[in-house]
Amino acid sequence: MNNLYIFSPEKIGTISPNIYGHFAEHLGGVIYDGMWVGESSNVPNIKGFRAELVEKLKAINPPILRWPGGCFAETYDWRDGIGPRDKRPVRLNWWTTHGDRREPNEVGTDEFVYFCRLIGAEPYIAANVTTLKPLDIRDWIDYCNSPRGTTTYAKLREQNGNPEPFGVKYWGVGNETWGGGGNMTAEVYAHEYRRYAMIMSNTDPSIKLIGSGANANDFSWTKRFMEVFSTSDKIMSYFSLHYYCWGSGNPVAFNTNEWYQQLVQAAGIENCLRRHWNYICGFGMEKYAKLCIDEWGAWHPEGSGPSKGYNLFEQQSTMRDAMVAALTLNIFNNNCDKVAIAAVAQLVNCLHSLFLASGPNLITTPTYHVFDMYKGHQGGEAVKTVVDNNEDITFTSPVNGRESHINKLSYSASIKDGKLTLTVANLSHDTSEVLQLVPIGIKLAGTAQIGILTHSDYHAHNTFEDPENVKAEYKSIDISDGVLTIPAASIIALTADII
Ligand code: AHR
Repeated sequence: MNNLYIFSPEKIGTISPNIYGHFAEHLGGVIYDGMWVGESSNVPNIKGFRAELVEKLKAINPPILRWPGGCFAETYDWRDGIGPRDKRPVRLNWWTTHGDRREPNEVGTDEFVYFCRLIGAEPYIAANVTTLKPLDIRDWIDYCNSPRGTTTYAKLREQNGNPEPFGVKYWGVGNETWGGGGNMTAEVYAHEYRRYAMIMSNTDPSIKLIGSGANANDFSWTKRFMEVFSTSDKIMSYFSLHYYCWGSGNPVAFNTNEWYQQLVQAAGIENCLRRHWNYICGFGMEKYAKLCIDEWGAWHPEGSGPSKGYNLFEQQSTMRDAMVAALTLNIFNNNCDKVAIAAVAQLVNCLHSLFLASGPNLITTPTYHVFDMYKGHQGGEAVKTVVDNNEDITFTSPVNGRESHINKLSYSASIKDGKLTLTVANLSHDTSEVLQLVPIGIKLAGTAQIGILTHSDYHAHNTFEDPENVKAEYKSIDISDGVLTIPAASIIALTADII
């Protein structure tokens, strides 16, 4: 048997609920037909938003929602999305050339904030710094946050049905400015950042700004940005990082080596975020640049989702994707002293989605269940956990044919309101694990609640025809002997009272 030590005195930090955030972009079927069906739709809706999605999303405590992109943000003019819906313009958007969809602007700022209120999440707006001027962003902040009756934009908001300010706190200063967001160098963006940030924070000093950071392992971006930023007034709260783990094999028919390859790529986020953090700390900028990993997840070849490729980037999500989510969230929990915000990409009908929807149909993916099982970590105090002998699994990399390795177990623990939440993912495709829990400095009650996500087939996923093929089971278990068994390719979340 393998010991899993829970070192309660060794606190890592508080797990910001915002680590469990989401992202919705005007791309493919995310907004239209995903979240939004329109007020006149036969699909049950709340002022146009798909009611079942609202209800199920709310149930997992979504803390923050990033919008409107992504790359879409960089050619979006917020003024197109306000006022009477039938008068709003139809535009080309960033993604029109990848799917021939036009932007009807039915969902704009007022609708987005309304959706956030429905699900109980903080709105996070990614502002366009590529094709809009700082003055335009000032006006957007004015529209959102100025007190009732004070400015022309506050009055316009009232005219549009929202007298009270939205109080949008989180504002991104661009998106992927190294790519779709202006194709800038780190130095050019850092100077642009300083310009926009000054205007934005002056408009509303209470807002929190998020700098557009690196693509995955591009550490040079962080270094070069920080070189310029660190000599400025340092108006920033978070610095973003995007990390996708690229698909290995067919999204629903991968082999065992591809299973492990995908998980190795997902696990690589830990080294990635730590190295960026080292650069940030190297410039003494940790106070201004907590990490905001506002796009993460598995990115498979297209076409495996229900729309069969009609919705850009839509993909199916199997137990493998759930495993990617479980190990990524464990890494965020274990690095909550560095990571303050994160958003899985994207909410519905897209990359690593929690939902797939079309017309009257809506299903949750296995990844949804991971977020549900892990929600007890939100706001908890992360404590150090160690497994005595975390087996090294050897496999053959489908990328280069070489021998590769990954640890069998991924785990994290936190304490909140007198309860311990422990989440463990067993990455082995065929071997279960028996753990002996060894709590240090705390004593656990003999009965615990457990959520388990497992399936006999690691390709398992949900479809409109079989919506509950994969779902978490919840039950009480006896842990008086401290023994916990985790089947192969499964994820558990255990909650126990501390006595
Ligand atoms: O999530 C899809 C796209 O991936 C986003 O628009 C962009 O920011 C990233 O490259």
